[in-house]
Amino acid sequence: MRTYSKSPLNYIGGKYRMLSTITKFFPRDIDTMYDLFAGGCDVCTNVVANKTHANDINHFVIGIYETFQQMDIDSLLQTIDSTIERWNLTMHDSDGFLQLRQHYNNTPFEERNPIELYALVCYSFNYQFRFNNQHDFNNPFGRNRSSFNATMRKNLIAFHGKIKNIQFSSKNFRELDLSFLSVGDFVYADPPYRITTASYNDGKRGFKGWSLEDDLILFDLLDCLNANGVKFALSNVVEHKGFENEELNQWMAKYAVHEVGCNYDNSNYQARNRNFITREVLVTNY
Ligand SMILES: C[S@@+](CC[C@H](N)C(=O)[O-])C[C@H]1O[C@@H](n2cnc3c(N)ncnc32)[C@H](O)[C@@H]1O
Repeated sequence: MRTYSKSPLNYIGGKYRMLSTITKFFPRDIDTMYDLFAGGCDVCTNVVANKTHANDINHFVIGIYETFQQMDIDSLLQTIDSTIERWNLTMHDSDGFLQLRQHYNNTPFEERNPIELYALVCYSFNYQFRFNNQHDFNNPFGRNRSSFNATMRKNLIAFHGKIKNIQFSSKNFRELDLSFLSVGDFVYADPPYRITTASYNDGKRGFKGWSLEDDLILFDLLDCLNANGVKFALSNVVEHKGFENEELNQWMAKYAVHEVGCNYDNSNYQARNRNFITREVLVTNY
């Protein structure tokens, strides 16, 4: 069985656990792969392609990857270790974490250090990226749970080797020019799911919540790619706790729909009550 490498970021909404389920529907022999909503990069780092682009509107996360890319693995690990040492970061005592968070947030925006941000994420609650509307990192301390442990280190080493040649960007997907893509290329889209509540941020400035308009513009973009012979796969949730994404349901009817997850709220497992169901799909145009 194939093993997959895991993002060193533990990204919320990351697709690591679903990789074997979704990648079996991906095309073979991809020339250019474009991951439109790359997040923790669990998908684009586990797909073989001649060239890879990874985009995410979250410039903080992309800034971390670009910084990783610029450093060799030894100096990267050394810099992370010395940051942890300098701020006395441990999983049990919040002092160092709070001091580093304050230091990071007090640093002028352009001078902020992505490695310090990565260290903060490693010691924060659920390893989440959360910023308020002043662009301050505001995730709390991950007491007794989060740290840059041996597994994170191992994942980082594997990840670093895989992102060497990825071309990163941090744009709103609406602003991307994908006209260079053609037959043989593949776009993967894993946007925020409109009817679920996963939050990657506080929904302010540039990282607004996902709207119906976003869904519709994305569907148009995917239709356009389809017309140009570009293959695509879209991950999304059609039904969630009694809500249905009707526009998605209508739009996807013209493509192949693969059921990739149907979960019941544990407490209602017996009842199979529709109000507790989450139905996840992968839509492909091939
Ligand atoms: C479901 S997550 C992607 C997770 C990713 N597939 C992984 O495995 O880690 C959705 C991502 O979309 C990004 N996003 C939200 N709105 C966006 C937009 N308008 N343009 C580009 N990216 C956006 C979020 O920052 C988030 O990282």
